[in-house]
Amino acid sequence: MALQRTFSIIKPDATRRNLTGKINAMLEEAGLRIVAQKRIQMTRANAESFYAVHKERPFFGELVDFMISGPVVVQVLEGENAVLKNREVMGATNPKDADEGTIRKTFAESIEANSVHGSDSEENAAIEIAYFFSGSEIVG
Ligand code: CMP
Repeated sequence: MALQRTFSIIKPDATRRNLTGKINAMLEEAGLRIVAQKRIQMTRANAESFYAVHKERPFFGELVDFMISGPVVVQVLEGENAVLKNREVMGATNPKDADEGTIRKTFAESIEANSVHGSDSEENAAIEIAYFFSGSEIVG
């Protein structure tokens, strides 16, 4: 498998608790390289557009409110099989279902405040990366 890139967000519940460094250490220990990273405040328009795929879901409004409730850290992660590797280190969406040692099992507060987002496919990773980063901001 060639080098792959995926998109990651450290969510407001984690930035509020000053967990960026601890989460980054877990990503790096899993073999992922942070090749771009910035701390931003998402606007409502950003969050609605980023999560548009979920707009018919009952939790959409709360998800958007949560994602703009504080700063997030958006990242590009690079590594062998990076999409799957990141999903493994994140753990299941609901921290109650996440394996021991994963980011969500270790840090997440709830299914909504679940500390991190990661792309679910290489195709979506490319779309999500392009939403937040220009090519010159990604240095592998
Ligand atoms: P994320 O990977 O960022 O993608 C969509 C997010 O919706 C998901 O993580 C969860 O944090 C959030 N969410 C909130 N409620 C639910 C729910 N009931 N089912 C799935 N995702 C939920």
